[in-house]
Amino acid sequence: MPYNADKKRYDKLTYRRCGNSGLLLPPITLGLWHNFGNDKSKKSMSIEAKKMLFRAFDRGVTHFDLANNYGPPAGSAEENFGKVIKSDFKKYRDEMIISTKAGYHMWDGPYGEWGSKKYLTASLDQSLKRMNLEYVDIFYSHRFDPLTPLEETADALVQSIKSGKALYVGISSYSSKQTIKMNKLLKERGVSCLIHQPSYSMINRWVEKDLLSTLKKLGIGCIAFSPLAQGMLSGKYLKKIPKVSRISDNSSLDKNMITKSYLFKIKELTKIANKRGQTLPQMALSWILRHPTMTSALIGARTVKQLDECLDSQNNLTFSNSELKEIDKYAKEEKINLWVKSSTD
Ligand SMILES: NC(=O)c1ccc[n+]([C@@H]2O[C@H](COP(=O)([O-])OP(=O)(O)OC[C@H]3O[C@@H](n4cnc5c(N)ncnc54)[C@H](OP(=O)(O)O)[C@@H]3O)[C@@H](O)[C@H]2O)c1
Repeated sequence: MPYNADKKRYDKLTYRRCGNSGLLLPPITLGLWHNFGNDKSKKSMSIEAKKMLFRAFDRGVTHFDLANNYGPPAGSAEENFGKVIKSDFKKYRDEMIISTKAGYHMWDGPYGEWGSKKYLTASLDQSLKRMNLEYVDIFYSHRFDPLTPLEETADALVQSIKSGKALYVGISSYSSKQTIKMNKLLKERGVSCLIHQPSYSMINRWVEKDLLSTLKKLGIGCIAFSPLAQGMLSGKYLKKIPKVSRISDNSSLDKNMITKSYLFKIKELTKIANKRGQTLPQMALSWILRHPTMTSALIGARTVKQLDECLDSQNNLTFSNSELKEIDKYAKEEKINLWVKSSTD
């Protein structure tokens, strides 16, 4: 049966303006970092992953976030998404914002990672082929490259727009200082920096120091990735490490991150969430979106059930001052920011 999107999909979410741009994004975006690579048995994404894409779009999620290296294996999330574009999503292409990125290791040799024009340009061409797309809506520099002149990375981003391969450009995990520099370089070349994609959650709050105020001042949108701290902002690790979980997948989450101080915070934050009539993942997402300048919370999900729970966060987006104060007692830094190097260089 061919997929036909829910006719009421636009009645469900309140879209948010991305910085000073003309672009509106959904408050929740679905990312394809984990769970959209090749299923163990097949050379395609799992049936559940495909269901999640359809469910997200049916519930008004118009934005899907990818990168060249998402999988495993690297590239397979884009390939699998490209198959769905071809089979089911093509007719909705103009209703979707699809992003990709380049910055991390993708192929061997000196041109397979970081921020050179050679790498970014070749990578975007590869991504478009894998996804069966003529253009992406947003092309990102995935990480700050301390050894490539920022001018060159800016040139590559500008070229992606001038060549018609991207509509907008963004940066990910850049510090406030490097964001100001990149914004200026892009402006000088006649292009606006649409959006910044930093990690941000209740237990990883580095952006609050100066990045958020910088983005507000520059009119750049913000999409916070890993807002559930890769699943740590849920009750799943309270008793033991479940067999089906990101930690058990042995990928980007380490069991050493489950510390006593972390468990204490989760227990207390869950009590606050429950008082608000929310689960902890739901409160964690509403909390990210409490900033009026936060454009979107960029989640991952393993199942349609998780995705639905996350989207239901939109039923309660307001916080009283006393709730925020109470949350601040426990929403404190854990050492979980894997992207800290890029954002401090
Ligand atoms: N720019 C960058 O450098 C960068 C880096 C990382 C991510 N990203 C982007 O951000 C996206 C999201 O990252 P993320 O996957 O780390 O985000 P996340 O939303 O913090 O974590 C997603 C994980 O949380 C768990 N989860 C989700 N909903 C749940 C629920 N309702 N109840 C309990 N657990 C739930 C699942 O883990 P289990 O599998 O354990 O169930 C899921 O895989 C990525 O797909 C990617 O697009 C960008």
